[in-house]
Amino acid sequence: MQQKKLTIQDIRNRKNGIPISALTAYDYPWAKAVDDAGIDIVLVGDSLGMVVLGYPDTVSVTMEDMIHHTKAVARAVKHALVITDMPFGSYNSSISEAINNATRILKEGRADAVKIEGRADMAKTVEAIVKAGIPVQGHIGLTPQTASNLGGFKVQGKSAHQAKQLVEDARIFEEAGCFSIVLEAIPASLGEHISKEIGIPTIGIGAGPGCDGQVLVIHDLLGLYNGFSPKFVKQFAKINESVIQALSQYKTEVERRIFPSEAHSFTMEYEEMEKLMRLY
Ligand code: KIV
Repeated sequence: MQQKKLTIQDIRNRKNGIPISALTAYDYPWAKAVDDAGIDIVLVGDSLGMVVLGYPDTVSVTMEDMIHHTKAVARAVKHALVITDMPFGSYNSSISEAINNATRILKEGRADAVKIEGRADMAKTVEAIVKAGIPVQGHIGLTPQTASNLGGFKVQGKSAHQAKQLVEDARIFEEAGCFSIVLEAIPASLGEHISKEIGIPTIGIGAGPGCDGQVLVIHDLLGLYNGFSPKFVKQFAKINESVIQALSQYKTEVERRIFPSEAHSFTMEYEEMEKLMRLY
């Protein structure tokens, strides 16, 4: 299925339309699979740190990591919109540094947009990046980069007071110029409410079916891990089991000289081999 490249406006136009599908990818082969499946948005999430680089959280992820992986993803994607997370520390110290780093993600990584975690206090930064010509997706609710300030990886906005704050954050991000907002780990009723309150598409992850789209980490969706899986994840496959099975079969076949067989080997004329033997 090869369609035209999606634009920011195409995503905006999906508000109240067919729900938007988004998935993370961090390298060429998986980004190509996601794009070939017709997914609308490929997110080079800083979840990269946890699912690919083996860090315990996303805090250690650098600009160089994000650019390196975005380049690989952008080379694969022909249809989807590519959005890259601005990593922790790349947009918080000053607005000019935030603009420089967002620019690098587009210029060097070839992403179409950046994603920024935060709340109302990030509005000025978002506004400045958008003014610099860089589309921004906001990310509110459970924001993994600052999860420790939020009491850990917990559902956010469960009280009316917290929920009101999140509605305000969403409105402020919209006013600051975001073209879309990720809502992570909030009650489904609040996800639906925020989606109705703002005029830009909401992309939920653990925010219920009332959002304008959904995003998941591809490793979670495919079951590339055996470990803990959050409540909001649906495993559509159990790839890890097939991978372990294939790898252990390879080991057995190598040890028993079953692999490589003739079918996987090259041949040489018998006479040439004879000649070789006489050369010694
Ligand atoms: O980093 C990431 O993968 C994300 C998604 C979970 C939304 O931010």
